[in-house]
Amino acid sequence: MKIDGRHYRTIWVAEDGWSVEIIDQTKLPFSFETARLTTLDDAARAIKTMQVRGAPLIGATAAYGVCLALRADASDAALEAACEALLATRPTAVNLRWALDEMLAAVRNQPRENRVASAYARAAALCDEDVETCRRIGENGFPLIREAAERKPGETVNILTHCNAGWLACVDWGTALAPIYMAHNAGLPVHVWVDETRPRNQGAALTAFELGAHGVPHTIIADNAGGHLMQAGKVDMCITGTDRTTANGDVANKIGTYLKALAAWDNGVPFYVALPGSTIDWTLQGGADIPIEQRGADEVTHMNGRTADGEVITVDIAAPGSPAANPAFDVTPARLVSGLITERGVCAATREGLEDLFRNETDM
Ligand code: MRU
Repeated sequence: MKIDGRHYRTIWVAEDGWSVEIIDQTKLPFSFETARLTTLDDAARAIKTMQVRGAPLIGATAAYGVCLALRADASDAALEAACEALLATRPTAVNLRWALDEMLAAVRNQPRENRVASAYARAAALCDEDVETCRRIGENGFPLIREAAERKPGETVNILTHCNAGWLACVDWGTALAPIYMAHNAGLPVHVWVDETRPRNQGAALTAFELGAHGVPHTIIADNAGGHLMQAGKVDMCITGTDRTTANGDVANKIGTYLKALAAWDNGVPFYVALPGSTIDWTLQGGADIPIEQRGADEVTHMNGRTADGEVITVDIAAPGSPAANPAFDVTPARLVSGLITERGVCAATREGLEDLFRNETDM
């Protein structure tokens, strides 16, 4: 996507040919800064501290983390240790494990002297594949928005999304936002309700930033506003991403997604979830087994903001001394999901629906 007229992906190899550049998402929306990763520790830290986040981008960063580790030491022991360190960074998004498995398959059987080149080649291919996958998710989700537009000629299609599942969460395009970008590019009148997404505000900070940069009409709303807007008939559909989808179609996504799905169900609003095949965990039969990341209480009791002087500061927002809990994801049961938008098409959120599209993977 373009920022200030320049096309960016969220991760790329720097001009030196080996170090890795990322957009530092902890600095958004107040400043657009890039950061350079030169070691395995840099890559692991970038994922853990959420300089990069979003399931597909976590996977892509882990892939380059393996490259950086192998540059320092291409032994079997170093490869294993790198995968272990990267896998431990964040627990919920399964794309991390998927990407590490892809990297292991690409380098494990190579002689040591070839491993670094093979790793960089696979990481680059994995990023290119992610871009193409997201583009196809966009193409497959686009007709859902076009049909909604046809049902109300001359009116705007209002789409609610939660967290950030745009290009910042992937390498480019995004998952949930890809169909929206395609609809906007095609001239359909779309408007996005952007859940702020407490506690880290990925909606207000990241989704609003990228929609604004692309010129897509949008409005940031408090997390609690979605149900009211649905009751008032102001939401035509919801589209979110997911960090892990189980074999039966249950979806884990940013905390608060489940409440939106419940409100959508009660109001007859279609609730779609967009995902690449790499987000499906075929080893889990239901959402109850998905590991839910528990993050620090400080994210709930504090907020970052910018003062009128332009200084970015962190402020307390809670009663001093009160404990806080911070589960970062929740699971939306498949029965609340109207359809899964994937790179292979749109399917029912059921085992049969997923297997019809991804039969080869289930055979593995
Ligand atoms: O904690 P994050 O910011 O990494 O969580 C990301 C999400 O939950 C997104 O909503 C997303 O849908 C999954 S990635 C496309």
